[in-house]
Formats: sequence, C-alpha cells, structure tokens
Amino acid sequence: MFSRKGIGGAAPDVPGFSAHKGPRHVAVIMDGNGRWAKARGRPRLFGHHAGAKRVREIVNACPDLGVKYLTIFAFSTENWKRTQTEVAGLMSLFRRYITKEARALRDEGVRVRFIGDRMRLDAKLVALMDDLECFTEGNDRVHLTVALNYGSRDEVSRAIKHLAEDVASGNLDPADVNEETLTRYLDTKVLPDPDLVIRTSGEARISNFLLWQSAYAEYEFVDTLWPDFTEHIFARIVSCYGARDRRFGGAKP
Ligand code: IPE
Ligand code: IPE
Ligand code: MG
Repeated sequence: MFSRKGIGGAAPDVPGFSAHKGPRHVAVIMDGNGRWAKARGRPRLFGHHAGAKRVREIVNACPDLGVKYLTIFAFSTENWKRTQTEVAGLMSLFRRYITKEARALRDEGVRVRFIGDRMRLDAKLVALMDDLECFTEGNDRVHLTVALNYGSRDEVSRAIKHLAEDVASGNLDPADVNEETLTRYLDTKVLPDPDLVIRTSGEARISNFLLWQSAYAEYEFVDTLWPDFTEHIFARIVSCYGARDRRFGGAKP
C-alpha cells in the first residue's frame, strides 16, 4: 500500500491524492534567464539575478494557493558545462541569496531544504545551505526545496550506491528492495511526489529533473521566461490544475 512518509500528516491510499483540488506539491524548472538577459543586451548573469528575485514572490503565493511543497530547479549537474564566469557567478549568487533571504524565509514560515550532490559545491556554500536548513527547520507553512547541483540520474545513481552498500554490509536484504525502498534512498525521501511540474521559457523537456518522482505528475510548459514569471501566472496554472483528470493508470467506472 502506498503511503507518504515523513511530513504531511494523514497518508491517503491513492498516490497523488489531495484533499483539495489544487496541487499539493509543485516543482518548477526555472528556465529562460539567459534569453531574458540577451533580449536586453545584458550578460547572462543579469538574467540570473532577475530570476532569483522572482523566487520570493512565487514562494509567498504558495499558502493561499494551497501549495504546501514547492521545489525549484536552481542548478543542474549538467550546468557545470557552462563558462567558468557563468558558473562562478551563479555560485556567488546562491551564496548571496541565502545570506540575504534567510531571515525573511524563516519569518515567513518557509522550511528550506536542498537536494542534489553537495560534494562538488564549495565548502562555504554548503555551510550556508546547512545553516539555512537548520535555521528554518521549525517551519511548516511552505516547504521550499531547492535543487542545487541536482540531476535525477545522479540522484538515482547515488541512491543505488548507498543501497548496495547497505546490502553488502548486511543491513538490507535484497528481497526487500522495491519501489518504496529505493524511494527512501533518494534526496527527496521526506517529500511527497510532485503533483504538477511547470517549466518556463517554452522548452518542452525535463532536463533530468525529478524523473523518478514525477512519474505521474502533470506537466505545464509555459512560454514565459523565468524572470517574467509572476504570481498571477503561477496562480492561473495552479488553478487550472484542478480541471485535470489524474488516473494513475486506473480506468473510470
Ligand atoms: C535557467 O536559465 C537557469 C539555470 C539553468 C541556472 P538559463 O540560464 O538556462 O536560461 P536560458 O535557457 O539560456 O535562456
Ligand atoms: C534546466 O535548464 C536546469 C535549470 C533550470 C536549473 P537548462 O537550461 O540547463 O536545460 P537545457 O540545457 O535547456 O535542457
Ligand atoms: Mg536554459
């Protein structure tokens, strides 16, 4: 039987079930910062700064929309392929953003978590991430998860490595390996699966984001570039979600 683990209270029997019609967990691929900057004749980092400013507005819109979990894709395991200038600028932006926003996030009842591989990130950034997680751990109004150096294939590989170590050390019986067991080794183990995945900027691809977790998510691809993505656009997408017919492989009677 399916059950949601960790946070979230009562566990319904149906995957993706929500007491209200809206999505409980929304995941966003925040894309289009570079094109937004280019259209203005500015460097890509200008677009990343404009994009970062959008995050607070979307997080703050969540409680009224019934969105309890918001997961945002900030930097992928593939984004290291970008120029050194862009990567260094993004890492510096993440450090500054955490430092600047920590108090507001805590005061607004946001619990922040990070998913992704921290090993390749610099120690100072990782320390800020750890601190922000601790600083906000008492909050429950909105659960914001930031995917930073995150890639689904990397996450699943790390999970399987860890699982194999547990089998080798005798802590896990291979006979007990199933979907639920593997889920417990993922970075997202305390989160419910996303109900809705939004990608901005007109690209209709997933780019290695939450592949396992979004197996039954609804998808919405919008042309708006991330720095132009407002709470009104977000609210419209979230409210349209209620009209969708999620079947999870079942059939209507
Ligand atoms: C998304 O915007 C932000 C990150 C991937 C870090 P992009 O930087 O991918 O912007 P485009 O897609 O080039 O316009
Ligand atoms: C996905 O966007 C990653 C983030 C939004 C952080 P990309 O711009 O990196 O994806 P591709 O390269 O267009 O697939
Ligand atoms: Mg992009």
